[in-house]
Amino acid sequence: MTGRGRTAPGALPVLGHALPLGRRPLDFLASLPAHGDLVRIKLGPVPFHVLCDPDLVHQVLVDDRTYDKGGAIFDLVRTLAGNGLATCPHRDHRRQRRLLQPAFHRDRLPLYAEVMSSEITAMLDGWRPGRRLDVLAEMNGLTATLATRTLFAAHLDDATFAELRQCMHDALTGMMRRMILPWRWLNHLPTPGNRRFERARRRLRHYVARLTTDYRRTGVDHGDLLSILLAVRDDDGRALTEAEIHDQVFTFYLGGSETTAPLLSWALYLLARNPGVRERLHAEVDAVLGGRIAGHDDLPALDLTRRVLLETLRLYPPGWLFTRVTTRPVELAGHRLPAGSVVLYSPHIVHHRADLFPDPERFDPDRWRDDTDRLPRGVFTPFGGGARKCIGEVFATIEATLALASITARWQLDPLPGARTRLAPRLSSHLRSLPMSLRERRTAV
Ligand code: HEM
Repeated sequence: MTGRGRTAPGALPVLGHALPLGRRPLDFLASLPAHGDLVRIKLGPVPFHVLCDPDLVHQVLVDDRTYDKGGAIFDLVRTLAGNGLATCPHRDHRRQRRLLQPAFHRDRLPLYAEVMSSEITAMLDGWRPGRRLDVLAEMNGLTATLATRTLFAAHLDDATFAELRQCMHDALTGMMRRMILPWRWLNHLPTPGNRRFERARRRLRHYVARLTTDYRRTGVDHGDLLSILLAVRDDDGRALTEAEIHDQVFTFYLGGSETTAPLLSWALYLLARNPGVRERLHAEVDAVLGGRIAGHDDLPALDLTRRVLLETLRLYPPGWLFTRVTTRPVELAGHRLPAGSVVLYSPHIVHHRADLFPDPERFDPDRWRDDTDRLPRGVFTPFGGGARKCIGEVFATIEATLALASITARWQLDPLPGARTRLAPRLSSHLRSLPMSLRERRTAV
């Protein structure tokens, strides 16, 4: 068959499908499989080929030479993360992945878990019964702190740490704004937002350079990511350059903080709406933790906690839109696409197909009694797949499990009456704020 897949209905002249994708992106994406396995949508004049079938998702994810990183979203992320692991093209990827893999080696995870448990303790010690909490802001704070602490260990004094977090925040906010406003010339105007963005970028470069100089001078392995980035050598004995280190630091910060926070927030929201599951989870964490903070050794016993997180990843995958660009003419689902075509995949689409997940909108952690490895390929992809699969999957799973178990061991969170969960398109996920009330279940032990 020739052609470029069926076009989704509802395109407007000039805008194409920008309105439904902008206003109700998740509903719009979930509606696409009704129109075929490969569905064409248009944003303004630009056509996108949306993968609606798990086999196609798998086919595209495993062939990262033909379906390379590219498209508008990656171009934007590149303005901050440069040519880091998540954004670099296929030709640079193998070398980078091989060099960075040791940072996520099994042996290092207990070290990271220790930092996680101590930061979770610090967060929970600040909570008070009856307090109104914006859960998303709180989880963003936790994951940003954890990303910074695991990247740079305890090497930073508090003032530097606070400024670094602020710079990361300003840089990210600037990037989000650029994503929503596609007119590039706006980025060069001397507006307060643009100035903050540029200042944050400059300061970050300065900090990373200063830290790497310090680390190099002392030569100590701090058990953090930066120590690994400095120690790794490629086959020719070459170390990462200063620019490469900067790009990786940013990539890991972005990957580490923009994803786990919405995952934890959605999990707490779903638990509040499903009291039966929450009671069972309370029973699990009471039995395993008895009110203390979870640590690395508790992970195997936290089985329902793990399944709650898997089901949350299915319903609300934090990364919900990714693009690839074809590097040669291809045939996909019987349709011929020229080189340079933009292919779009969203875990949200396949995760909400009723033929693959019966009653797909129902929150049911018991779907996950079997290992996820037994699922057909391309069906469950919250961490992507193939060579570009998330390098932080295990790290994130540990972080989310320790946090969710520790929070629910001590606190019960409920949505505030009348308060609305706000949804808005973001780089990852759609949650913008999640006000909840706190009730103490157990005091700290
Ligand atoms: C719940 C948490 C997380 C989710 C749902 C998630 C999701 C993803 C997804 C879907 C991809 C593939 C993107 C694509 O196909 O274009 C990815 C890649 C990546 N993630 Fe994560 N991620 C999470 C946590 C993390 C953490 C904690 C880190 C770092 C510490 C991280 C670092 C990365 C990196 C560096 C890549 C690029 C991998 C490569 O191309 O080789 N992620 N992530």
